[in-house]
Amino acid sequence: MSLSNALSPFLAFVNPETLQIQPNTGGYKKYFRELSGIYADEVAFDRLAESLGSAVAYRVDEARFSDRSSNLITGISVLEPGKVGQEFFMTRGHLHQRADRPETYYCLAGHGILLLESLAGEVEAMEMRPGNLVYVPPFWLHRSVNVGAAVFATLFSYPADAGQDFEIVRQAHGFSQLVVSGENGSWKLIPNSRYRPRTGQEVEAYEARTRS
Ligand SMILES: [Fe+2]
Repeated sequence: MSLSNALSPFLAFVNPETLQIQPNTGGYKKYFRELSGIYADEVAFDRLAESLGSAVAYRVDEARFSDRSSNLITGISVLEPGKVGQEFFMTRGHLHQRADRPETYYCLAGHGILLLESLAGEVEAMEMRPGNLVYVPPFWLHRSVNVGAAVFATLFSYPADAGQDFEIVRQAHGFSQLVVSGENGSWKLIPNSRYRPRTGQEVEAYEARTRS
């Protein structure tokens, strides 16, 4: 790898008030209505979509200065609080397109879960408050879940050529566990009855793709 492919050193500012990173190259907003199908309780989703449909469910701002594997993309994800039925608001979740690429998430604000799932279906629910950092290993799917009353904001960093595969989550009908409300304002995991585990053949195909 030639050093000419590398970015120059730069200094960024993570604004704790606006929860934005400066400089940034933009990002995207995900509107509530676009999340149809990710929640178990579709009736509750449709009901909420009538009032919240055009509201922003989460936004991502990022410093994406390169798409080369030798560089990192760093950004901020801000997820609104709320529930669809008993299930807390969450992001779609993804595996990296190049699934052998890892990621870190650092909690800037709020109270959330980083839900991790291996290709084989093992689950880790990492509870995050400001100051916590989670390492997402290669080949683990991940999604943010807001279990608090305010926004859940994380600073993430991952190799710039990783990409995101959302389809693998859709095909499995989500993650194997749902994060739902528990006793006295707490949260708990319950099995996702719609979940379709990946076959051994499918897991091998994902692993092989990163070798090609
Ligand atoms: Fe990721």
